[in-house]
Amino acid sequence: HPTQEEASSHVASQIIARINTFRPTQNRKFILCLPTGGTPFLVYRELARRCEEGEVSFEHVITINLDEYVGLGSEHPQSYCHFMEENFFSKGKLQSPNIIFTRPFPSPSPYHTILTPSPVDIPPNQSHLLPGHPIPPNTTPEHSCASYESLITSLGGIHLLFMGIGENGHIGFNEPGSSFGGRTRVIKLDEGTRGVNARFFDDPSEIPTHALTMGIGTIREAREMIVLALGKKKAEAVRRAVEDGVNHLCPASALQLHENVRFVTDNEASQNLR
Ligand code: F6R
Repeated sequence: HPTQEEASSHVASQIIARINTFRPTQNRKFILCLPTGGTPFLVYRELARRCEEGEVSFEHVITINLDEYVGLGSEHPQSYCHFMEENFFSKGKLQSPNIIFTRPFPSPSPYHTILTPSPVDIPPNQSHLLPGHPIPPNTTPEHSCASYESLITSLGGIHLLFMGIGENGHIGFNEPGSSFGGRTRVIKLDEGTRGVNARFFDDPSEIPTHALTMGIGTIREAREMIVLALGKKKAEAVRRAVEDGVNHLCPASALQLHENVRFVTDNEASQNLR
């Protein structure tokens, strides 16, 4: 697509088409996995707009996020919990932490009180994130990761996984070298990734060193995936993911082993493709 707007609008259309052709039952909703970061911003705006216009409803959708920083409470403006609340979900009420954070996300956050309610009509208990902070009582991050895996299994698996790609080819926070069979776990962030994400933090000492992320094995079990890449900084990662051989030093190249993946790019992100 020529522009970021057109690529993002295309992704929103794909997500809407999948939701609208899905026939929910009492026991089975549409399971949608979502990313954060700069990439999905316009997609979320477009989904919210089209939901408001009645083109799609999220009533029978369950969302599961890919990853979360360790150590940032949901009140922190850069926590992914906060990102999702601010950019996609409507304002939530507060509750105490569970093993997995399910909306309304736990937080004594002053930020939540200034958020504008979004038109997205997803019921509050149908959105899930990995708990980066605080660690829920009587548990460990590893326990939370195992519970996330169980949650995904109990929901019957992911129908559509939408994600971005890191400049180093990471997907979720699976950094280069991650096992293609990896499950949801705690991961140490690459210094390069911390540097790229520094743009979101006022104080560099606040940039987290660790994250919780779905593993590549978990990701690969989704029935369908859409990877959105925008801007020339992603051009080399897209080329390596799509045209180089499958290599664990480019985690996104693992997607070549999946039969139902689509990369959506703007012109800049595809400029290195043959
Ligand atoms: C975020 C995520 C990451 C980002 C990637 C690109 O939930 O899983 O893999 O998609 O780091 O980040 P942006 O979109 O900020 O360029």
